[in-house]
Amino acid sequence: MQKEHLFKVLVIGDLGVGKTSIIQRLVQRVFSQHYRATVGVDFWLKVVERDQRTVVRLQLWDIAGQERCGNMMRVYYRDAVGALLVFDVTRASTFEAVLKWKGDLDSKVMLSNGRSVPTVLLANKADQSLHGLRCQLPRLDAFCRDNGFVGWFETSAKEDTNIDAAIQCLVDNILVNA
Ligand code: GTP
Ligand code: MG
Repeated sequence: MQKEHLFKVLVIGDLGVGKTSIIQRLVQRVFSQHYRATVGVDFWLKVVERDQRTVVRLQLWDIAGQERCGNMMRVYYRDAVGALLVFDVTRASTFEAVLKWKGDLDSKVMLSNGRSVPTVLLANKADQSLHGLRCQLPRLDAFCRDNGFVGWFETSAKEDTNIDAAIQCLVDNILVNA
């Protein structure tokens, strides 16, 4: 017998960090250079066969970066059981916003056991290796430990780097609570 789960997962982070691109890579296996800002929220479904007995349906909520201060966030976050929090390694301001997003998330949603929802941090646009924050990435282990992230990955939606690994990590951490 296969066991099926349906999980609501949030994809959050500042404007233009690559949330929609990561989801498109995950769900449709495509990448576009063209930037079209998400308005409000978009929904996507990704089915992950965890093992022979476990099928996980992820309902991905792709939340526009510009929504962080909007008053719909509490509605968007409701009943989520996991999150991907994305920043852009070429723009330090998007990393500085990470703790604001994490604080918002933890203040608006928690698991039924009172714990914060498992959140994986994604350092996206890793293909732009000559830019920005990349030399600081080794420090993210301590940053994640200190700030309650279950893990982090250097990702590229463009080159399809580590996106499946990040989702796998998130699913494993969600299943621990399921
Ligand atoms: P909002 O919807 O406004 O919150 O933005 P978003 O986080 O959904 O960003 P989006 O996925 O639309 O990507 C913004 C821009 O970054 C687009 O031009 C993408 O092509 C580009 N981009 C996204 N991921 C990558 C990546 O891994 N590498 C590179 N080089 N560019 C990327
Ligand atoms: Mg988007």
